[in-house]
Amino acid sequence: MPIHLNIRLATQDDLTELANLNRLAFSPQQTVEQIKAHWFHNQLDQPGRRRYLAIDLQTNLAVGAYTILDLRVWFMGQTIPATGVAGICVAPHKRGQGISKQLIEHGLNIGHAEHIPLTMLYPFHHGFYRQFGWAWVGQSHQYRISSHHLPLYAQRNNIYPYNPLYRESLTTTYEEAAVSHNGWLHRQDWQWNDCLRCIPGREIYIYRGNPSHYSIEGYVIYQFLAQSNWSVPTVIVQEWVALNMDAYKGILGFFAALRDQVSTIIWNTYPDDLFPNLLMEQRQNPQLQSSPFHFGLTHPLGKIGAGFMWRLVDIFAAMNYRPISQGKAFQITFRVIAPKSSQVPYDPFTVHFSEGRMHRVETSFDSPQITLSLEHLTQLFFGFRRVAQLKWTGELQVEGNENCLSQLDRAWTTSPPFCWDFF
Ligand SMILES: CC(C)(COP(=O)(O)OP(=O)(O)OC[C@H]1O[C@@H](n2cnc3c(N)ncnc32)[C@H](O)[C@@H]1OP(=O)(O)O)[C@@H](O)C(=O)NCCC(=O)NCCS
Repeated sequence: MPIHLNIRLATQDDLTELANLNRLAFSPQQTVEQIKAHWFHNQLDQPGRRRYLAIDLQTNLAVGAYTILDLRVWFMGQTIPATGVAGICVAPHKRGQGISKQLIEHGLNIGHAEHIPLTMLYPFHHGFYRQFGWAWVGQSHQYRISSHHLPLYAQRNNIYPYNPLYRESLTTTYEEAAVSHNGWLHRQDWQWNDCLRCIPGREIYIYRGNPSHYSIEGYVIYQFLAQSNWSVPTVIVQEWVALNMDAYKGILGFFAALRDQVSTIIWNTYPDDLFPNLLMEQRQNPQLQSSPFHFGLTHPLGKIGAGFMWRLVDIFAAMNYRPISQGKAFQITFRVIAPKSSQVPYDPFTVHFSEGRMHRVETSFDSPQITLSLEHLTQLFFGFRRVAQLKWTGELQVEGNENCLSQLDRAWTTSPPFCWDFF
């Protein structure tokens, strides 16, 4: 029997209950007062966040919560409206009774009602969200490099400490880079406040190719890690932006110049960053303990992070936002298998691809038909996987002229998403 819930927006009066649910789920060693202060700044009404509380109608007690973040995501030079799902939690004594399922469906229904193309989250288990149609699309690379293996580029002389006078210039620099990076968030003021907040151990430096004015061409945000947890002094690079190669070299040269103070630089980045090519040694800091790399005489170089998941919500709204590569016009009918959790099957629909855009047309069974899950459609749509690969693994079936597969591959070619922001 499903638990009957009233899922409603939380108000300031719910702060203690909400903080307690979060404490029990994510940080049971802290007190409710600490969670209220550190996680919520004692305030539930914050811009860009809609916090929901689930009340058990039988007992009138709060048994679950989650938050919707209102986001915009850069994709192929455009920003797409998206929701972020964060902090799903269920009271420990109510787990395994379908409450999170109801919370997730609640969030998806809101997305559908608002014609949101896309929703995003960082999963605690990929498999848990996969059953609701989310797809793994985010991957990050992490290099743990000796500062001695970074070149001492002369451009480091144009690096300066950040101060709030540069805020506007820094945010403009980020947005300028974001236009050509799939998955970066189009940040609002509240997101920038979080990014640029003073935190012990966090430092921000900017690159100014022309020191006579305020425009900046790159910046880096990094955090010193507590030395007790690490054998050697370490900084973790949380975000870097470089609009040109001089700015990029300036940032690397800056870290190289810290070699007497910092031994390891943890460089977080997207998979096709050229970072490993510029190192003097293609290996992780030899001072770090590491498990052996079980493949020939090869040194470990980096790690792969199994990042975030996306899910198409309103597929037709998403089609309006996404440009496609130019090519000969073609048409495909999609049979999308609804996620396991969904109550109703999805109707087939036909899409006409022409002149750089997609148009939904009257459903036609004369066109080639592709059958695949919502998860796989999401992966293809956002460039994380290729049509030919899904055909090969049997995760996609085609009926009719198979030329449509290479046409679709070409139309949806783009680089997979990456994102600096966590929630
Ligand atoms: C994760 C959490 C929210 C799940 O809540 P819940 O109400 O117990 O989950 P549900 O009962 O709704 O389970 C929904 C479905 O997911 C399945 N499921 C539960 N945990 C799972 C897991 N770890 N991996 C895969 N599937 C899982 C259930 O079997 C159920 O499937 P079914 O309907 O086919 O039986 C809850 O355990 C929690 O609060 N954990 C701590 C906080 C946390 O990690 N939140 C996630 C943040 S990303």
